[in-house]
Order: sequence, then C-alpha cells, then structure tokens
Amino acid sequence: MRDINFLTENNAKPIWHPMAHPAEMRANPPKVIMRGEGVMVTDIDGQTVLDAVGGLWNVNLGYSCDPIKQAIAEQLDRLPYYSGFRGTATGPAIELAYELSEWFAPEGMVRAFFTSGGSDSVETALRLARQYWKIKGEGDRTKFLALKKGYHGTHFGGASVNGNAKFRRNYEPLMPGVFHIPAPFIYHNPFDETDPERLAQLCANALEDEIAMQGGDTIAAFIMEPILGAGGVIVPPENFMPLVREICDRHGILLIADEVVTAFGRTGEWSGSRLWGVKPDMMSIAKAITSGYFPLGATLIGEKVAEAFESDDTSFGAIGHGYTYSGHPVGCAAGLAALAETKRLKLNENAAARGGELQAALAALKEKHEVLGDVRGKGLMVGLELVSDRDTKAPLDAKAMTRVADVAYEAGVMIRVTGNIIILSPPLIIGSADVGKIAAGLDAGLAAV
Ligand SMILES: Cc1ncc(COP(=O)(O)O)c(C=O)c1O
Repeated sequence: MRDINFLTENNAKPIWHPMAHPAEMRANPPKVIMRGEGVMVTDIDGQTVLDAVGGLWNVNLGYSCDPIKQAIAEQLDRLPYYSGFRGTATGPAIELAYELSEWFAPEGMVRAFFTSGGSDSVETALRLARQYWKIKGEGDRTKFLALKKGYHGTHFGGASVNGNAKFRRNYEPLMPGVFHIPAPFIYHNPFDETDPERLAQLCANALEDEIAMQGGDTIAAFIMEPILGAGGVIVPPENFMPLVREICDRHGILLIADEVVTAFGRTGEWSGSRLWGVKPDMMSIAKAITSGYFPLGATLIGEKVAEAFESDDTSFGAIGHGYTYSGHPVGCAAGLAALAETKRLKLNENAAARGGELQAALAALKEKHEVLGDVRGKGLMVGLELVSDRDTKAPLDAKAMTRVADVAYEAGVMIRVTGNIIILSPPLIIGSADVGKIAAGLDAGLAAV
C-alpha cells in the first residue's frame, strides 16, 4: 500500500463516497480508518476510538474474529470462486443455505437465494413476489406497499419502496405502483397519537384504507423493517407487525420482512419478526451474516412461496434473476464461521443485556441535556433525536450535529449522524465498560452544543 501522505493527499479525490455530496467530501475529507481490533478502530492519525457504529450495523463480532478470517483464508486456498448458476454449485453455499433454513425455521423460512448485499436481497424479494403471483395466475398483483420512513436500499425497486425523500428525490421517477402508509412512530406521527397501541391501530387502518383504494387483488406484497433503522430507529408498538400480518393474510398480500439490520441478534432476538411473533413470507438479510467481513446477503423464502415455485410446471417458475456473486463460496464460508460464532457467543442475549444498560445510560443523559429530545431503540439498535426546542421538536442544525460527533470522537467514540439523529449500532460483543464509554463520549458531545 502507498504511504500515509499519498492517502491523505488523495482522500475523497479519485473516489465518490456513498450517501455524500462529492463536493462536500472534497471540502471535508472523511476520516481514513486504518485498523480495527475488538470493538476499536484506529484512524490515519493514530487515534483509536470505540466504534459505536459497528462498521455500518454489521460488524456484530467486532474486528478480531479469527474464525471468520481463517474460514476466508482456507476457502480462498481451496476454491476462491465458482458460480452457482445453473449446472454448478459450491459446498459452502449449500451448507450456509441449510444453516439459514435451520436458523430461521421459527420464522417459517425454508429456502435461501444468495445475493451480494442488502439492496440485492430486497430487490430479489420484490421480484420473486411479483413472480409468485404470475405463477399463481394472479398477474394483476404487481403493486407494493411500504412504510413512510422505511429504508430498503438503493436499487430502483428498493428506492421505490423507500419512504424517505432523501433517497428518492434525485432518482425519480421511481417504479410505479408503490404506495406508502404512515410509520407507527410515537415521536412524530400525523395523528398526534402518543398511545402506542392506538397508534399502531391507526396506521393499520391507513393500510386497510390504501388496500381498499388500490384493490387488494392488485397488490403483490407489503415490505417493512420490523424495526425501522436508517429512518431513525423507529420501534413500532408491539401490536403493529402482528396487525400487518393479519391484514396481509386477509387480502392475500405477501409480507416481506426487511431484516438486513435486524437479523442475527441486534434487537435482542434472532430476528425482528421473531421479536414481534410474526412469520413473514420472505425475509431480506445481509450485513451481520458475515459480520461485514465479506459482502453477502440472502433472500429467505417461506414455505408457501417455495411450494408455489417448486410445484410449478410452467415457465413462470423459472428464476430469471441472480448475481455473479450469488452464493460466493468465500462469502458463504465467512457466513458459516460468523453464524457459528454468533451462536456460540449468544450475541442476541448480549445485545439485550447491553442494550438495556445503554438505554438506561441514555435516559440519564436525556435528563441532563435539553437537546436530547428523544431516545429510542431496542437491544443495540438505538436512535437519539436532537432538537433545538423540546416543545416544537425543531431539529438541531447540521453544524451542531457535526460538533456533537466531532467532540464524541475526540472523547474516544465514533457515532453516526443522519440529519438530526444519532444512530448507535455497536458490535454485539461489547461489554458493560464499553457501554459506559459510549455514554461518556456522548455526554461530552452533547455538552459541547
Ligand atoms: C433495512 C435495510 N434494507 C436494505 C439495506 C441495503 O443494504 P446494502 O447497503 O447492503 O445494499 C439496508 C442498509 O442499511 C437496510 O438497513
């Protein structure tokens, strides 16, 4: 690798970064991260901080998971690549698909279709949903329903079901036939409702209303994150997802759970659907499946959908969809090792326990700092909404948000800022002392504005 001066000189120059304005990146180049160990990362200036972002909600096992590194190295030696397109398969892909169907048996998942990441997994689910209805002889069912504030990645299908203008506006027109309903978000909702159960019912009524307007027999699927992540960590009331399941069943609509963030323990349960006691028809997963050590994702397919495809004897069942890297053997070997470690370390239990401690520490910070308007989350998936006025909930300005993040970083904690929200998604291996460090870093940041 070239020297540090080269990296500093060229930082943000020949590269465009995701989710950023290229001019802004050139003006304020990003931190260059050089090393990671345990739950800590070290930047190009030698500063080491606790990574309360967990890479990007994905490095659940931290940066020093030897079993994954070894599995990758061994698979590279044995077979660095072979395709899973018709006619060939590799061992790790077969084994990981088996493992996933065991892992997500309580959700009713019986098959896996591998992808290269979360956006691919969402796209695959949407496409398979349309195809399912063609197989069933209900080709009119092409539309999708989704939640406002939901995030489903950046492919055209995923962007179309996204519920946030930030990810839509510059790419419009998006896919036609997608309709959004209000998210069950206690802190901001169009009904001014603060009672969780009632709010869930109001959003469910809006869903019914939209279905009546569109005609249930024109809708292929409803897609939702069991806990909305990138939209600001919105935890639906307990009764919401079961209500959605019941409505979808009544109208024959497929339910896709986008579990790209919530699968593998982050919420304190092995999946968000399990957290709410719901069996979806398909699930999109990625991120923690390899703990971020290799780009990999999967669309998981439930019994009903699998049965329709596998018993089809027309051409409608043939899958004309897939990626060069679907079932990449190195990614699948990484996944097998990551899942074994995730299970061995009971990361779901640690996420629940450390998440409880973090919530308590943040509740104390809310007492202390007027700018902290709302603290919300489940397990180690946490959102902090910063406001300039608690009554009007007016957002804290961008400059102040940057200041909070910079001061927290100086105090030894990497946090993620999106708009006026701080998102915390640390590795699931953190201990109680790490929770204390995250709270202390935030305390310093919040005190600086
Ligand atoms: C719920 C959800 N779906 C899909 C995606 C897209 O995943 P990727 O960035 O791996 O394409 C994300 C990414 O954060 C996500 O949070």
